[in-house]
Formats: sequence, C-alpha cells, structure tokens
Amino acid sequence: MQRLPTKRLSASSAYAPLAMSAPRFEGLTRGDIAPVLRMTRENMSSILLSAWGLEWSDETLLDAILDRSTYTEVARLGKEIVGYFTVDQKGEYVFIVSLQVRRDWQGKGLGKLMVDRIEDLVLMAGLEGVELCVQTTNETARGFYEHLDYRFVSKVRNNLLMRKAVQEASNALPPPLLLANSF
Ligand SMILES: CC(C)(COP(=O)(O)OP(=O)(O)OC[C@H]1O[C@@H](n2cnc3c(N)ncnc32)[C@H](O)[C@@H]1OP(=O)(O)O)[C@@H](O)C(=O)NCCC(=O)NCCS
Repeated sequence: MQRLPTKRLSASSAYAPLAMSAPRFEGLTRGDIAPVLRMTRENMSSILLSAWGLEWSDETLLDAILDRSTYTEVARLGKEIVGYFTVDQKGEYVFIVSLQVRRDWQGKGLGKLMVDRIEDLVLMAGLEGVELCVQTTNETARGFYEHLDYRFVSKVRNNLLMRKAVQEASNALPPPLLLANSF
C-alpha cells in the first residue's frame, strides 16, 4: 500500500488546459501558513462557537497542519491562496482534517475541485475512500458533501462522520470544459 505524498515531495499539479484561470495545487510552504490560518478563522469561528461553544484558536489548526502525519495542499491563483485542504491517512481511508475555500471564492466550484483532488490522491495511493467530520451546525458543509455523494456514518458528539468509497472511473478529473465553466 502506498502512502500519501509526503511533505518533502510537495506535489504540484496545474490543470494544464486551464492553467491561466484554474487554481494550481501545491504542497504547503511556510509562507502559506498565515493566509491559511486567516481563511480558516474567518470561515470557522462562528461554526465552532455554535457547535461547541468554543472560541477560535489558531494553535489547534497549526498543530494539525504541521503534524508530520498530515499532508496539505494549497489552491493558488496567481500569488493568492484561495483554498486549501489538509488530510491524514487513517487505515484505508484518507481523512479530511480541514478543507477551506476563501470566502470570496465560495460557490464557484473550488470546493468540489479540491474534493476531486483528494479523491485522486486516494486513487493514486490505492486506498478505499475519503472520510471527514462536519460540525452538526455546519449545514452548508453537510449539504456540500452530501451533494458530492458523501454519506452520513455516525454522530460523534457534535460532529457528523461522513464517508465515500472512491472508485476509479467516476472520480477521474472532470473534463476541462466543466472546469472552465466553473472559473
Ligand atoms: C463547504 C465549502 C468547502 C464548499 O466549497 P464551495 O467552493 O463553496 O462549493 P462548490 O462551489 O465547489 O460547490 C460544489 C457543488 O456543491 C453544491 N453545494 C455547495 N454547497 C451546497 C449545500 N449546502 N447544499 C447542497 N449543495 C451544495 C454546489 O451547488 C455545487 O453543485 P454543482 O457542482 O452540481 O454545481 C465552502 O463553502 C467552505 O469553505 N466553507 C467554509 C469551511 C467549511 O465549512 N469547510 C468544511 C469543514 S468540514
């Protein structure tokens, strides 16, 4: 069984036909950390408060993305980071630790593009599928993942565990024209 790419490999993949307008996926570098923390804080503070009654703290996310077992890619448009995901391998599944689209880029297809990218990593690593947790109060994320065929598995305190088995044909990269319509 192959492991996910390590931080040292720092995978980079542009969708060549759309390289001028589509985001490039690149391994996280140190300079990316501040915008990643900022976008997550903006997206998640109110959700964390409503689900758990907790104030946002950068430290928890920082620990997760710097943990040697996790793997993070940023979605870059020009010099700007418009989204990112952090994943961890849990047995035969890739677990999404965090997946965020910058607010001004939400609703434009980037979240789906990042999930497609994670599913591609699953296929490349010969794993079974993808798992994630959404906070019970995060209706947007739950609807988003359900729309992408993720199914509820169980409720763990204020989190909902969701899962999707990933198969070869249905999860290949979408045709360039579809991507072109999104951006
Ligand atoms: C949730 C999130 C990642 C979605 O990303 P996005 O870029 O806004 O979503 P997309 O534009 O890629 O949407 C992809 C598809 O899902 C659909 N969709 C999005 N949200 C949906 C919802 N709440 N219910 C149903 N469908 C939804 C879109 O209509 C689109 O459908 P289509 O491909 O058939 O046109 C983004 O809103 C975000 O970053 N939210 C804050 C952070 C967060 O909650 N992260 C998840 C934590 S687990």
